[in-house]
Amino acid sequence: MTFKERYGHWAVIAGASEGTGAAFARAIAAQGVNCILVARSTEKLNALADELRQASGIDCMTLSADLAAPDAAGQIIAAAGTREVGLLIANAGADTNGANFLDAGIERWTELLNLNAVTTMKLCHHFGQQMCARKRGGIILIGTGASYGGMRSLAIYAGAKAFLLCFGESLWSELRAYDVHILNLMLGRTDTPAFRRALESKGLPIPAQLAKPEDVAAKGLEQLPHGPVYNWGLADDQSGFAPTSAAARRARIAAMEEAAKAVMGK
Ligand SMILES: NC(=O)c1ccc[n+]([C@@H]2O[C@H](COP(=O)([O-])OP(=O)(O)OC[C@H]3O[C@@H](n4cnc5c(N)ncnc54)[C@H](OP(=O)(O)O)[C@@H]3O)[C@@H](O)[C@H]2O)c1
Repeated sequence: MTFKERYGHWAVIAGASEGTGAAFARAIAAQGVNCILVARSTEKLNALADELRQASGIDCMTLSADLAAPDAAGQIIAAAGTREVGLLIANAGADTNGANFLDAGIERWTELLNLNAVTTMKLCHHFGQQMCARKRGGIILIGTGASYGGMRSLAIYAGAKAFLLCFGESLWSELRAYDVHILNLMLGRTDTPAFRRALESKGLPIPAQLAKPEDVAAKGLEQLPHGPVYNWGLADDQSGFAPTSAAARRARIAAMEEAAKAVMGK
């Protein structure tokens, strides 16, 4: 199958207005797959949609929505309507609070949890069912080194991203039989506008050797058939910043599948 046959006709990119989300949109559009771009900044979304239509001749929709809102998934599902969505990129998820748990209001943490976990879970449930029925499709969940354990000042971010990692691995195990690809794309430090804003707000310098969003998007799409985990810059059997390599995590899921048969059936 070509990329378009496997992941077309439409892709939903949640958090598409800049950085890695916009880079994914450009890479996906270049493959001839139509895009539904979601973020809050209407102007940036519209400019990107115009660019993609002109550059790739694809059909492109925009939806201005807050992915942290309780009804965000419903808005996206309604906007997609009967369009055949074969690719979902859950990109938005950075923690803009920069605070210890008790030092920010509980509503901020609830929004961060909704953004990363709840909205993404609902989108996977809806579009995953359609992908399974068609026996093709793909979902990329953007993760981070913080997914692998607790971290000071990132309590909810690390917890929400850890949820995504376990959720994505489980989904990979369940949807493999339907030929639906799931990838937890675990990023390192990446040169996005959001990351630059976060550093600048704290008066910190921009580090050298940040990953480029276009490289992240290209690698993510390349690795999508080889889930459930890709750790940025590492080979499949290297653990790097993570306690276990991608290969070891895959092997653990296979062992748990066998062990679970005794209590879960087939
Ligand atoms: N940059 C890094 O160094 C790094 C490292 C590890 C992991 N990651 C992960 O990579 C992903 C992208 O990170 P990023 O640095 O580009 O920052 P980000 O804020 O997660 O993503 C930026 C994109 O998401 C949209 N967005 C953010 N919050 C939103 C909301 N509540 N509702 C709708 N759209 C929203 C932004 O558009 P609007 O502002 O227009 O809404 C923008 O298009 C995240 O999941 C992050 O955790 C990043």
